[in-house]
Amino acid sequence: MNTEHKVLAELTEDRYSSGEAISQKLNITRSAVWKHIVKLRERGYVIEALPRNGYRLIGRPDKLLPAEITPLIHAQVIGGHIVHFEKTGSTADDARKLIDEGAPEGTVVIADEQTQGRGRMGRTWQTPAGKAIALSVILHPRVSPSRISLLSLATALAVKNALVAVLSVTRESQSGEGGSEEIHVDPHISLKWPNDIYVGGKKLGGVLLEMAAELDRVQWAIASIGLNVNNQVQGTGLKNIATSLLEELGHEVSRRDLVVALLDELDSVYRRFNLEVDPGAISHEFEKSDMLQGHKVEVDTPAGFVTGVASGIDADGRLRIRESGGGVKLLFSGEATLSGAWSPP
Ligand code: BTN
Repeated sequence: MNTEHKVLAELTEDRYSSGEAISQKLNITRSAVWKHIVKLRERGYVIEALPRNGYRLIGRPDKLLPAEITPLIHAQVIGGHIVHFEKTGSTADDARKLIDEGAPEGTVVIADEQTQGRGRMGRTWQTPAGKAIALSVILHPRVSPSRISLLSLATALAVKNALVAVLSVTRESQSGEGGSEEIHVDPHISLKWPNDIYVGGKKLGGVLLEMAAELDRVQWAIASIGLNVNNQVQGTGLKNIATSLLEELGHEVSRRDLVVALLDELDSVYRRFNLEVDPGAISHEFEKSDMLQGHKVEVDTPAGFVTGVASGIDADGRLRIRESGGGVKLLFSGEATLSGAWSPP
């Protein structure tokens, strides 16, 4: 945490914190405290300052600022450095530039709005201002390039775990009196190989994994996540195929809480991925939410279309397809489409 984050951490909504107390605790002068208060106000924090009482936080900006996220994450590798843009073309492109500038592993680029967002297979990706999540993480995986497709499954799994964690808490805090009751929710989040996040048959978010590798070494990877949170998908051309948390739940969800959970979950699954202690574990966990399992699918792969019944995922993250002639194909990458309507499990 830098000093500005530490000053922010000293401010609360329910009481005043004196400038003297903050300066002593952080070992900085009172005028330095004041300078940080001014900076925080410039960033959109509403801070009351009363000569006798001190400072009180009245409002936070609805932006995914590092000061909002850094103090809350527990991640070890991911999020040590967070770069925030109110508006950018694409966080994935920004991350690529940061790699060339020597940004360390775990650097996160977050934007409140993207104007040139990119999806998989050359598609575009919408990130309307202040409503969704768009972030990219710089990684230097210590695995052979043949294992890298598993990283995109691992990232999707982290998104699912983060959603389940945050939505459980959201339901809990909305349950009225006695809201501390533990509620296990099943928001029907499923994963579509290799890395799409679905709710009730509609796409909620996706992962874009880009990398550069030599024959036996991955130079860098950028794991990017796009998630529809408080945006309306109804009314856009995507209404039958995509959805948002707002549309599914009927209420807004804190983007800050989601980003914090996402970075923590991604950190945990990424460390497991790098260590390769139990090579099949990530695929196995993914399989538990695999919406293609047992369904007839058509997969558009770099080598052409493959059709058959989706029959699980192997330890390297490859989709297993049982063809009508009885043969089995293992697919590294591709875009799977269900033949026929999806029905909930
Ligand atoms: C998909 O097609 O499902 C993947 C979508 C990935 C979108 C994210 S949003 C953050 C990052 N920046 C981009 O331009 N794309 C990715």
